[in-house]
Amino acid sequence: MSDARAIRPATRDDLDALARIESEHLSGTWSRDALADELEKTFARLRVATEADVVCAFVHGWLVADELHVLNVATHPAWRRRGVAKALLEAFFIEARASGSVKALLEVRVSNGAAIGLYKSFGFVEDAIRARYYSDGEDALLMSAAL
Ligand SMILES: CC(C)(COP(=O)(O)OP(=O)(O)OC[C@H]1O[C@@H](n2cnc3c(N)ncnc32)[C@H](O)[C@@H]1OP(=O)(O)O)[C@@H](O)C(=O)NCCC(=O)NCCS
Repeated sequence: MSDARAIRPATRDDLDALARIESEHLSGTWSRDALADELEKTFARLRVATEADVVCAFVHGWLVADELHVLNVATHPAWRRRGVAKALLEAFFIEARASGSVKALLEVRVSNGAAIGLYKSFGFVEDAIRARYYSDGEDALLMSAAL
């Protein structure tokens, strides 16, 4: 990423931007209030990537025992395919490792080739399929990686 870009913990000032990305480009499962609650949880991690101080991506996860559960990662469409999610996840995994995580886990829609490609580039492997996991009936792919 260029010098104009940065990765940092999310703050309350980022909640509008995160909620917008969530509702417009993710499932909308996490409302602004739910994301605000995440900022208060000791085991939750919300990190943002910014470009010229504008939030262009975020990642959300939980540290559970020695595992990192990746709940969401999203880049605003205007910044996609420019290495933003890759840089964000790289920093996220280094931080989780430093906090004692030895494994990362996630689930992703089987049709989400972009996300599956991103995760595979970090060494994630396909562990199982969870049939009809999503409310529209789509299957989830369960993936994991050693950190
Ligand atoms: C998945 C997503 C986060 C990728 O963000 P991004 O910032 O564009 O990703 P990057 O530019 O860092 O790409 C890193 C790697 O991921 C893979 N990748 C990213 N987008 C891809 C696409 N559309 N098709 C195939 N592979 C893709 C590639 O391996 C890519 O490396 P490359 O560009 O050198 O080929 C983004 O497409 C997104 O926000 N999607 C909607 C939200 C979502 O589905 N999140 C996952 C929920 S589980």
